[in-house]
Amino acid sequence: MVKIAPSILSADFSKLGEEVKRAEDGGADLIHVDVMDGHFVPNITVGPIVTKAIAPLIKIPIDIHLMIDNPQCFIGDFFESIKDRENPQDSISVHVEACIHIHRVLKEIRSYGIKAGVALNPATSLDTIEYLLDSIDLITIMTVNPGFGGQVFIDTMIPKIKKAREMIEGRNIDILVDGGVKADNARKIVKAGATILAAGSAIFNGTNSIENNIRKIRNALKRSE
Ligand code: DX5
Ligand code: ZN
Repeated sequence: MVKIAPSILSADFSKLGEEVKRAEDGGADLIHVDVMDGHFVPNITVGPIVTKAIAPLIKIPIDIHLMIDNPQCFIGDFFESIKDRENPQDSISVHVEACIHIHRVLKEIRSYGIKAGVALNPATSLDTIEYLLDSIDLITIMTVNPGFGGQVFIDTMIPKIKKAREMIEGRNIDILVDGGVKADNARKIVKAGATILAAGSAIFNGTNSIENNIRKIRNALKRSE
């Protein structure tokens, strides 16, 4: 069963608590939080204060996507912000491009009893994670250049998703696809091998309700089966 992870980057931040609750009630499987530092990506978003604020409002897992330099300096703070939930399904993902000693960072994340994720920019080869697979619970394949919501899905990432699926072979690793995911392309992304779809603008933007937008993506997937 494919999971849907609304990315709060496109939510209305003046009522973020209500938005994440609405997403949970509307059938979201997890909440994807985009953390940006203005260095690793050309945009700044939120820190552990915000993950701490939303953590007690929802029961579904939280996936913290760190698009920051030196993520090893902040893993502890982000874990602190969600630790009261004691949810082993929560995850923190770091970019391979941002970590020199990524094996150590992944070990630290797992040491907190949550899932360890790696994220790869569109230009980054899957070879970078070949020797890390035993330390990874979640691979985020970026299908836009990270930094902003509402960008167009990069179609040449479809073969990369397929390759990631082949690479993990029967391991218990999720493949999360992040960037430009909509009801229109959800089917081919899942066919390629994604197990989690992160979607921001397709869920939080426009006039339809969050619930309807989640349903629209799910229905598009059903039609494919
Ligand atoms: C991009 C972020 C994505 C983004 C997706 O830098 O990592 O999670 O919010 O937004 P959409 O779905 O609008 O492309
Ligand atoms: Zn993201």
